[in-house]
Amino acid sequence: MVEIAPSILAANIKNLNKEVIEVDQAGADYIHIDVMDGNYVPNTAFCPNTVKNLRSLTNKTLDVHLMVKPVKNHIEKYAEACADIISFHPEADLEPLEVIDLIKKNNCKPGIAIHPNIKVADIESYLRLVNIVVVMTVIPGFSGQKFMNDQISKISLLKNFRDKNNLSFKIEADGGINQETGAICKKNGADILVAGSYIYNAHYTKYKNLIESLR
Ligand code: DX5
Ligand code: ZN
Repeated sequence: MVEIAPSILAANIKNLNKEVIEVDQAGADYIHIDVMDGNYVPNTAFCPNTVKNLRSLTNKTLDVHLMVKPVKNHIEKYAEACADIISFHPEADLEPLEVIDLIKKNNCKPGIAIHPNIKVADIESYLRLVNIVVVMTVIPGFSGQKFMNDQISKISLLKNFRDKNNLSFKIEADGGINQETGAICKKNGADILVAGSYIYNAHYTKYKNLIESLR
């Protein structure tokens, strides 16, 4: 069964605690936390304190997606804040292998995120070392963007590579996910669907129904 990761980037920040508790109770598997530094992407969002605060509210897996450049100096702060997964964009650091090692040394699970402009072939060397691969299906930076169909093939490519090489990383699709695009990602091999605006901007449907509709 596909797992669901609501992205708090689209939540009502004034009620962030409540927004997280509610998706937790509605059956979310992960809480996806987008960290943006205004450098790797033209937007800023969240910090280690956000993660620390959410850790006190939920036992769900805290899935931190770093959109920062460079990456290395951020890792310890997010590990100390009790992130479970830390994903990053390898082209945003000169030493991606060191970043992966540092994440592991800090007892978190490492993930690689693939920007739409990056090919799977370019990140292939990391696939044996990570627990999760985030396939970006929008340009990183904002929630509420349109799903990019031309990224779908990366999901099946990763799935084939994983099966062929007996690896176990999970494939997470991130950006523009709704019932229709989520079904396409799932069909192509996605294990986790991140959903921001689909869940948090639907004012008249219960979170539980939205999460179930993605499954
Ligand atoms: C985009 C973020 C996504 C975003 C998803 O840079 O990585 O996680 O919050 O939001 P939606 O689902 O609205 O595209
Ligand atoms: Zn994200």
